[in-house]
Amino acid sequence: MDFNSLVDRRNTNSYKWDKYSEDVLPLWVADMDFEVAQPIKIALQKIVDHGVIGYSRTPDELVEIVMQRLKTRHNWDIKKEWIVWLPGLVPGLHTATQCVSDDFYSVMTSTPVYRPFLEAADMGKRRLQDIPFVWQNQRWEMDFEEMERTANPSTKLYMLCNPHNPNGRVFSKEELEKLSDFCVKNDLFICSDEIHCDLILDETKEHISIASLNKEIEKRSITLLAPSKTFNIAGLGCSLAIIPDEELRDRFEKKKYGMMPMLSAFAMESALAAYKDSEDWRLEMLKYLKGNHEYLLNEINKIPGLKMEPLEATYLAWVNYESTGIEDFVSVLERFGVGVQDASIFGGKWYFRLNFATQRANLEEAIKRIKKALNVI
Ligand SMILES: Cc1ncc(COP(=O)(O)O)c(C=O)c1O
Repeated sequence: MDFNSLVDRRNTNSYKWDKYSEDVLPLWVADMDFEVAQPIKIALQKIVDHGVIGYSRTPDELVEIVMQRLKTRHNWDIKKEWIVWLPGLVPGLHTATQCVSDDFYSVMTSTPVYRPFLEAADMGKRRLQDIPFVWQNQRWEMDFEEMERTANPSTKLYMLCNPHNPNGRVFSKEELEKLSDFCVKNDLFICSDEIHCDLILDETKEHISIASLNKEIEKRSITLLAPSKTFNIAGLGCSLAIIPDEELRDRFEKKKYGMMPMLSAFAMESALAAYKDSEDWRLEMLKYLKGNHEYLLNEINKIPGLKMEPLEATYLAWVNYESTGIEDFVSVLERFGVGVQDASIFGGKWYFRLNFATQRANLEEAIKRIKKALNVI
């Protein structure tokens, strides 16, 4: 497990690396530049060696391990039949925005947020109620006052991203309880995307699934999970929704029926190998990410015009560039050889998102180029 060792991903049809020309370091879309854990490679090799790749069913052991993880790590007892397998988490976001009612309705979320949250509402012809996060108590918080003011009888769903992409928050029990009360009071369902829950950087923080808080919110919940971000198997498409309420689950299943492929053996066996046998890799990888996070915090905050707050989770730095006064700063960075994403993609302004799940040498090079773009010696 040498996370410093460079892996050449160019010319592999990598979505991340083959987006730009060779002189741009791609630090955008959320996948990691690290080789996967050995147990995952072995599981995939076993399928290739067998040589017949037909339709697959979900391994019982995978179901067991998901249930066990939720119980031991999230203190949430779920039943087998609550799980709906999905070939990706984004299809789960879209299905969730479609399934809670047959009537026209509004979907509320806090912004900036992972772009498919915004698209799912828009493409699904739901009215989006986007409420900006507020910076208070030295962290990004949901604006409950504005949420209360905005919620109306057409509001049927709140979309939560926890841990949050892109602001890196791990929402506290108090915040989640407040959100749970808000949903119950306004008769909302909740869709909680928890794909980053095994990527906690701040050891004083703990991931809590909002559905585990109480039975009232549990029955209104669609919780979306996947091993893909944590174990770097996003290309294989294995995700799941946990939907305790039978009627809601039925509506969700009906909306997705015939629109999504079955999961492949590669998807499910890699997920099993990840959850069951790759914990050592995860812990080492997290240690490496924490080092990268420290490095970036130090370096970015030394650059005049840029500001980065510590993240609680994820490997996506959220950097403020307002003091540079350069509105098209992300294009400037691209010209200087750094490929990052602008906040406008996520419904925000004056920030860029930088993926630091890469070798330290790449980050060092990126920092040099960012300094050059800003004329910092
Ligand atoms: C919050 C969040 N949800 C979902 C996804 C993507 O999920 P999938 O590739 O399984 O559709 C990402 C990827 O970056 C993400 O950050």
